Amino acid sequence: MGQALPKPALRPFLAADVPVLAAIFVAAIEELTGDDYSEAQQQAWASAADDEEQFGKRLAGELTLIATIQNSPVGFASLKGADHIDMLFVHPSAVGQGVARMLCEALEKIAGGRGAKSLTVDASDNASEFFQKRGYIGKQRNTVTVNGEWLANTTMQKTLGEGAASGVPT
Ligand SMILES: CC(C)(COP(=O)(O)OP(=O)(O)OC[C@H]1O[C@@H](n2cnc3c(N)ncnc32)[C@H](O)[C@@H]1OP(=O)(O)O)[C@@H](O)C(=O)NCCC(=O)NCCS
Repeated sequence: MGQALPKPALRPFLAADVPVLAAIFVAAIEELTGDDYSEAQQQAWASAADDEEQFGKRLAGELTLIATIQNSPVGFASLKGADHIDMLFVHPSAVGQGVARMLCEALEKIAGGRGAKSLTVDASDNASEFFQKRGYIGKQRNTVTVNGEWLANTTMQKTLGEGAASGVPT
C-alpha cells in the first residue's frame, strides 16, 4: 500500500492468462480474507482454481477483464450473463491502489451499455464494504457449500444509471 506503482490498465482475458489468474485467485483468498473466513473455508474456496482447465472454462465463459500493472496481471473481474459479477480478485501486492474499483467500474459500464438495469454480486464478507462504497445494497444473506465447507456471502445489488449520479467517485 502507498507505493508509487504505475497506474493499472485493463485488457480482455486471454486463454494464456489462466495460470496467473489462478495464482491471483489463490493468493487473494489466502492473504486477504483471513479476518472473515477460517483457514478451512479459505482452502475450500481457493480449491476452485485447483483444476486450471475448469477454472479457465469459467473465465472464458464469462466476460473477464484483466487489470495489469506494467503489463503484468494484478487482478481480474468477470461478468456472468447480463448482470451478475461472478469474480473480483486482486493480488495482495496490488491492493489499495484502485485496481478493483477500475475493474468493477468497467464491468458496470459494459453491463449498462448492453442494457442491464442493475448488477448483482454475491459479495464475500471481505469485499462487501468495497461494494457498499460503490453503491451496492445488501439484499440477502447466503450460506453456500464449497468443497464441503459452509461459506457466508451477501447478495448485493446496484441500480445502474443512478450509480453514475450517486456521487461515487470514479
Ligand atoms: C476486495 C478486493 C477485490 C478489493 O481490491 P482493491 O484493489 O484493494 O480495492 P480498491 O483499491 O479498488 O478499493 C476501492 C475502495 O474500496 C475500499 N476497499 C477495498 N477493499 C476493501 C475492504 N476489504 N474493506 C473495506 N474497504 C475496502 C478501498 O479502501 C477504497 O476506498 P476509497 O475509494 O474510499 O479509497 C480485494 O481486497 C480482494 O481481492 N479481496 C479478496 C477476494 C474477494 O473477497 N473478492 C470478492 C469476491 S465477491
